[in-house]
Amino acid sequence: MGNVTVIGAQWGDEGKGKIVDWLASRADAVVRFQGGHNAGHTLVVGETTYKLSLLPSGIVTGTLSIIGNGVVLDPWHLKEEIAKLEAQGVRVDADNFAIADSCALILPLHRDLDGLRETAAGTGKIGTTGRGIGPAYEDKVGRRAIRVCDLAHLDALSPQLDRLCAHHDALRAGFGQPPVDRAALLAELRDIAPTVLAYAQPVWKRLKKVRKAGARILFEGAQGVLLDVDHGTYPFVTSSNTVSGTAAAGSGLGPASTGFVLGIVKAYTTRVGSGPFPTELADATGQRLGERGREFGTVTGRKRRCGWFDAVLVRQSCAISGVTGIALTKLDVLDGFDQVRICTGYRLRGKILDYLPAHAADQAAVEPIYEEMDGWQGTTAGARSWADLPAQAIKYIQRVQELIETPVALVSTSPEREDTILVRDPFDD
Ligand code: GDP
Ligand code: IMO
Ligand code: MG
Repeated sequence: MGNVTVIGAQWGDEGKGKIVDWLASRADAVVRFQGGHNAGHTLVVGETTYKLSLLPSGIVTGTLSIIGNGVVLDPWHLKEEIAKLEAQGVRVDADNFAIADSCALILPLHRDLDGLRETAAGTGKIGTTGRGIGPAYEDKVGRRAIRVCDLAHLDALSPQLDRLCAHHDALRAGFGQPPVDRAALLAELRDIAPTVLAYAQPVWKRLKKVRKAGARILFEGAQGVLLDVDHGTYPFVTSSNTVSGTAAAGSGLGPASTGFVLGIVKAYTTRVGSGPFPTELADATGQRLGERGREFGTVTGRKRRCGWFDAVLVRQSCAISGVTGIALTKLDVLDGFDQVRICTGYRLRGKILDYLPAHAADQAAVEPIYEEMDGWQGTTAGARSWADLPAQAIKYIQRVQELIETPVALVSTSPEREDTILVRDPFDD
């Protein structure tokens, strides 16, 4: 029995939350290791829908849920999300929830800066979630972040606030904004500190204990490989590493702990925000995918851009992230199409490419080469076993795994937790 690391293999919103929730009942701990509340994970259990942005998806099954050091944490959002979940009957307490004391905080000044930059960029904007993720990671790497552990030492915060505010006041002045109101910030931190500190601890120690006891850990990635700050469609990316390797650094366990890497892959492609998208469909088919797949962002409510499955991108993501097997999600959204298409390569200025090049201009210029297959008229929606799938849908799955050079471990056929087909158990690997 090993650990499992779940990552998104496209541009996010692949259905990670649903799969993590499904796997969580068999895990002893679920750990978030990067990103923040830019994530939006929707879980459907019977009649109830849960929307999580910051808390690990394991919290709904009551599994020990941990926010690792690699996450950037907005304390006010944390409070809100806990209250919302508690109102839905989910238990969140110091027994089943912990936060790394070394997490960098997202402050109101980070949200301000995110918004100011996006507004100033006009049509060149990244299309961020506006939650201050990028500015918070910048301050962490710039060694001027306020961290969770600082909340227990607010009387000694003055030198750190000096450094942080000197930096932000200069940036704010450039945007014609007033300096940071330090007194107000300190008062807000004093007010929120007890909420965060109730869960704060050296989680690496807790995880060491969990691991020693032979327990199974499920690492829950946010976003997707194509939004990774190194490997994604830079600069239209998020500000963290979203690849599987981050699970170790972002939680305080060694690289051998990541175990089976489960890449979550949507049966077609979506993207929210700006940036290149080779198989994007601006026509009725794209519209149909969006409607059938209910492709609206959980965090911002923005319409997601939709297109055919891009095997080139997913093959690249699987290689970069060392994916052991994939969970293919939203197969049901393709039900009823006469023909379906898969992108198998790109054309760029007369050359054929089998990968997405690094330069933004090249990424924007590549033209997809498609392979067309017959669709299926039967339904996959709600299927819970391989035998329930139409033969042509199985052909599609087989062609996908062949092209991405990675086997399918799970298939998801609806938002509902139990509408999931297990092909190969990641925990048994
Ligand atoms: P995440 O960010 O990767 O967790 O994905 P999101 O939750 O943002 O987006 C995935 C959406 O698709 C959610 O609304 C899920 O409820 C839904 N979903 C997940 N798996 C399936 C599936 O197999 N079929 C359908 N139709 N919807 C799914
Ligand atoms: P989950 O975990 C889809 C996108 C934003 C924007 C870019 C940078 O639900 O899959 P940021 O606010 O992170 O600085 O925005 O990244 N983005 C996501 N897209 N799913 C997500 O998370 C995302 N988190 C960020 O739309 O293009
Ligand atoms: Mg999402």
